[in-house]
Amino acid sequence: MTPDPYIDRAALRTLPLEEKAALVSGVGPYHTHAIPAIGLPAAEVGDGPHGLRTETGVEMVWIPSTGFPTGSALGATWDRGLVGEVAAAIGEEARAIGVQVLLGPGVNMKRTPLCGRNFEYFSEDPLLAGELAGSYISGVQSTGVGACLKHFAANNQETWRTEVSVEADERTLREIYLEAFRRAIEAADPWSVMCSYNRIGGVHASQNSWLLTEVLREDWGYLGAVVSDWDAVHDPVAAVRAGLDLEMPGTDGRSAGLIADAVRAGELDETVLDRAAERVVRLVERTLPGGRSVEGPVRAEGIVPGAELTDSQAAALGASRHHELARRASVAAHTLLRNEGGALPLDPASGRRLAVIGGFAETPRIQGGGSSGVQPIQVDTPLSAIRRIAGDDVAFAPGYAVPSTTFYTEEAWPTDLDERRRLIAEAVEVARAAETMIVFVGLPLSDEVEALDRTTLALPEVQLELLAALAEVGTPMIVVLAAGSAVTMDPWHDAADAILLTWLGGEAMGAATAEVLFGIAEPEGRLGETFPLRLADTPAYGRFPGKDRLVHYSEGVLIGYRWYDAKRIDVRYPFGHGLSYTSFEYSDPRVRAAADPQGGFEVELTMRNSGSRPGSEVVQLYVGELEPTVVRAPRELRGFEKVRLAPGAETRVAMRVTARDLAYFDEARSRWTTPAGAYRIDVGASSRDLRVSVSVSLGDEGIPEALRRP
Ligand code: BGC
Repeated sequence: MTPDPYIDRAALRTLPLEEKAALVSGVGPYHTHAIPAIGLPAAEVGDGPHGLRTETGVEMVWIPSTGFPTGSALGATWDRGLVGEVAAAIGEEARAIGVQVLLGPGVNMKRTPLCGRNFEYFSEDPLLAGELAGSYISGVQSTGVGACLKHFAANNQETWRTEVSVEADERTLREIYLEAFRRAIEAADPWSVMCSYNRIGGVHASQNSWLLTEVLREDWGYLGAVVSDWDAVHDPVAAVRAGLDLEMPGTDGRSAGLIADAVRAGELDETVLDRAAERVVRLVERTLPGGRSVEGPVRAEGIVPGAELTDSQAAALGASRHHELARRASVAAHTLLRNEGGALPLDPASGRRLAVIGGFAETPRIQGGGSSGVQPIQVDTPLSAIRRIAGDDVAFAPGYAVPSTTFYTEEAWPTDLDERRRLIAEAVEVARAAETMIVFVGLPLSDEVEALDRTTLALPEVQLELLAALAEVGTPMIVVLAAGSAVTMDPWHDAADAILLTWLGGEAMGAATAEVLFGIAEPEGRLGETFPLRLADTPAYGRFPGKDRLVHYSEGVLIGYRWYDAKRIDVRYPFGHGLSYTSFEYSDPRVRAAADPQGGFEVELTMRNSGSRPGSEVVQLYVGELEPTVVRAPRELRGFEKVRLAPGAETRVAMRVTARDLAYFDEARSRWTTPAGAYRIDVGASSRDLRVSVSVSLGDEGIPEALRRP
């Protein structure tokens, strides 16, 4: 890695004012400003988070890159190591293409399942999102490419995204909406952080000194660069003053002029500008490859946007290795929600007549729309992958027509009623002739796209009609569901023998789905977000998207499972849920005080694969204060481990809980407080499938007084 500092700081400070001011905004859509006189090249940034998107040189035409499962799918893996591997692969591709900063990961919380960008985000829980983001950042940065943690902060809806003001109390912000950022920064020190579009308490994030200076710099000690979301800066002088370092995209010198004028007029302290300029320089320095040059990194030979990769170019990107990794990551995300009577896995050798139904089996939904969309290198389709395993005589009927899409948009879903009926009737015939049907349904792209929120949690009407007609047939029905965010399942849920959620699984999803259906691979995913029974049950219902561009987070800290648990609301599938083809036993929990100064304790238990197949389980540890004096969720995720075990095998799993993990943010005293008293610790397979419990009671110092089983 480039030694630091590489650029002479004294020379930087003595640059003409205009030149320093120019450094704190970009050039064009994706570059930073170069200053050859001091040896500073431009850096190129490119989108993530689940594959490299770069459109250098050509408007809206991209260089092919490996499409990995999107954020919510990666969230469902609960696998720190795997997320790190995926991120390192994306970093490697960025390196080969010459992109130095990758605009991801995204760790915004899912306040409502209607948020159009939920597919990009890991979870409704800050611990899960923050831990996975930490692994992601370390993975990207291990390749010498900078990560850009986004969107800081409270960007939880797309409606009015550039103006909406989030009105939330500080406790809610600190515990829920800032916490994943804090954890990720503490764990992995991203070289940049991207501020969000929205306002918080009336002040745009890009100009919010509480957010960018008090919280980020002073409380958390963050030393990297703060980059704006694209066009999120309204007043460049106010932004620099508040702690922003780099405005993106470039403004053709307009912002630099305003900033230089403000310094000359004594409205902006020059040392504040110097500090921002230094942080931009440091970001560029950190991302320079070993053989640094003023021209910056060089793009792999001949790769141009919009063109197919040649074999040697694909090899330079690591395309086949990364495709295999994308498949593995997709398998790890596949979440088996329901499996009545062991309907899955299917046995390809059983000779059962199979039918595949649904347009998504031929045209899979592998990603969402907007800045995260990549041009995938090689897409596996589920239908061909299923036929490869179960034979070419597997029948197929589309059941509904999938409109064609671009990366950003989708044509309207077909409304020709006669055609709709014909496709459904044909699918019913195919289902009748089969002994098992595998039905592919899911959300349309238009429901999972940047800059727009969803209006419903239901599947498209045409798919609901298809499912209703198929349910009448009586052939056992496996539903394969593609969605990057929660959906409701009425009225078809009970008619499905099995429901396998693929999420938006990236370019190798088709192969992964087929492997999971036939038990060649195990479904390893667990929900990183609750699937509610109905929209009216969700935490932000009636408080979203707000009014007059103001949104009040009056549900406070109770989002996701915290809300459903506190309000005792039944859900379709709880946070953390996901079935396995095998079964696990949890036993012998022990708690022991941790010896180090952080305080807290370690919880240890035995996990045993009690079934007959190899498989994985995500062991989840939840903590709840028994008699809180402030509103607290009954339980909050405070630890998790993914264990993979052979049949009959067992292992001890240990998870650490610090005193900080038991704390809440005390607004009156403006600090984290760990109340003395009793806490219950539950370990289980989901937030509502708790298998073993212990309780601890804490003294004032957060040290366990007594450790005992309940
Ligand atoms: C998105 C960011 C993205 C940026 C650059 C913005 O519209 O909100 O997530 O990184 O564009 O493409």
